Amino acid sequence: MDFVEQLKSSIDIVKVAGEYVRLKRVGATGRYVGLCPFHQEKTPSFSVNQTRQFYKCFGCGVGGDAIKFVEEIEGLSFWETVKMLAERYGVPMPKRSDYSDAESKLRGALMDMHAIAARLFQDNLRGPQGAEARAYLEKRGVSQEVIDTFEIGYAEPSGQALTRKLSDRIFSVEQLEASGLVRKRNEGTGYYDNFRGRLMFPIHNESGKAIAFGGRAMNDEDQPKYLNSPETPVYKKTSVLYNLHRARDAVRRSGRVVLVEGYMDVIGVYAAGVKEVVASCGTALTNGQVRTLHRHADTVVVNFDPDTAGANATEKAIQLLLDEGLHVRVVALDGGLDPDEYCKRNGAEAYVAKLDGAATYFHWLADRARTRFDMKTSEGKVAAFKFLLPAVQKISNKLEQAATVNDLASYLGVDPGLVLDQFKKSAADRRAPVPQAKPASAIPPMERILLNALLASDRARTDMLPALLPELTDTFVTREVFEGLRQVAGAGDAFSYSVLEGRLQGPGKELLRDAVTADESTGGSVSWEQAQACLRRLESDFRKRQLGELRTRVKSAEREGRVEEALSWMAELSRLERESRGTSGG
Ligand code: CTP
Ligand code: MN
Repeated sequence: MDFVEQLKSSIDIVKVAGEYVRLKRVGATGRYVGLCPFHQEKTPSFSVNQTRQFYKCFGCGVGGDAIKFVEEIEGLSFWETVKMLAERYGVPMPKRSDYSDAESKLRGALMDMHAIAARLFQDNLRGPQGAEARAYLEKRGVSQEVIDTFEIGYAEPSGQALTRKLSDRIFSVEQLEASGLVRKRNEGTGYYDNFRGRLMFPIHNESGKAIAFGGRAMNDEDQPKYLNSPETPVYKKTSVLYNLHRARDAVRRSGRVVLVEGYMDVIGVYAAGVKEVVASCGTALTNGQVRTLHRHADTVVVNFDPDTAGANATEKAIQLLLDEGLHVRVVALDGGLDPDEYCKRNGAEAYVAKLDGAATYFHWLADRARTRFDMKTSEGKVAAFKFLLPAVQKISNKLEQAATVNDLASYLGVDPGLVLDQFKKSAADRRAPVPQAKPASAIPPMERILLNALLASDRARTDMLPALLPELTDTFVTREVFEGLRQVAGAGDAFSYSVLEGRLQGPGKELLRDAVTADESTGGSVSWEQAQACLRRLESDFRKRQLGELRTRVKSAEREGRVEEALSWMAELSRLERESRGTSGG
């Protein structure tokens, strides 16, 4: 068995995909469903088949095995994915370096450099150079345990140590420059460290590998306050969330994710025991980050800083989160405190109470409208109404929407009928819904039943496959798959789903998956009798077609006076008729 087959047989796609997507088991057939991570949707059309180890989305049509899934979701090459999965699931990999193309090699080098840098920064913080940084952390109430958990470090001020360390190794100049960890000198030659004299927060990807850093200055004179890594081939700012890899399990367990603004907020809130907390890293929240959140939770509790910037960011975040169909709650902390300060000042319990009692975004927006507009005048009310309307329109659940319209009316102190009219009018103006993604290809029931029977049992493959002559299946939509089955049988290979899949081209693979998924969604497995009935039906249809053809030939030979030929066709015809009576009777 080659290594890829071995890897595939030692991992479970439900576990692999389940790390990125919340999957729910349906029925007892080893089928799981969830929201598709590859397109935007609010109802699950992403299906994972445990028995056959593949995924398929009925919405956007994507599908494949565990390796393909990780390739797509992590944006990795095939071999990078194989390597990562082998590492993650402890499958020893044969040593071969020619597995990677140039781009994968660069990404691998960047990850290695970040691991080296993270270790060096941590060592610095522990060592004599780290005294000031340690004192700073202590003053801010960051314990040793938290320092270790978040792998916080310190970049020493000389600007030499990391550059030297990285140049010692085998990294090329191109790799060094691509890392964002070092800079080229303006004068003379050589490089120096990008991060100097800063507290270092490693940023990890979802698999827990360090891919970037946020570096905080320790004095107000040092600007900027935070220096962040640039975008690199391993760090895409628009989809990475700080702390997601640590928060993931708690997010799944609690069903919510707490979204804060800063690294220090994440650290403070996490230290207070609320582990389901993440932040966007030094950028405004993006659609990509929101989609990532939705893979793990349905509810987002937004807890940004209580200043104007924080409030504006909250407003934008609400719209983005609603667009993605998430439930949104907003926490407003009293005393003008940010989440980190609040936890330190009032303790974990008080903070948890704030989270649990967080109102829906609508109340937060309404409060904001109240301070913004003069609610005593009718112009003010109209303005407030217009301000709140877009958020109401984004509620996809009609009942919830109607309830909110009512709330809105009583909040504004106006007649609910009036609000409803306004609301309907603007709803009618809204743009048409986005077109639906392409549906899965339709496979006739006969083909589906036969295929699933052949996939399911050795008996079907030994007894039925030889009877399924190529001429019986050559009009099939799925004829390639049947041909693949014959090839596997002919080669004498032990049968497995992935061996068959391996013999098929792209379209064939897709047909195979479609056939299997269609079977599941119509419920249950195919019975032996059903399959036999299909086979008999196929054979009798085929015979009827043959007989029909022969009769035509006999007739035209007779008509044209080719007596001998007509006689020979008639002999053939009666032989076939005898044969078919023989089989259909038994
Ligand atoms: N940020 C940034 N660059 C800056 C300032 C801020 O990238 N010059 C980002 C960082 O991700 C930071 C977040 O915005 O964590 C929030 O900023 P701020 O509230 O200033 O930082 P905190 O993380 O809360 O840190 P502290 O508590 O030390 O002020
Ligand atoms: Mn802050």
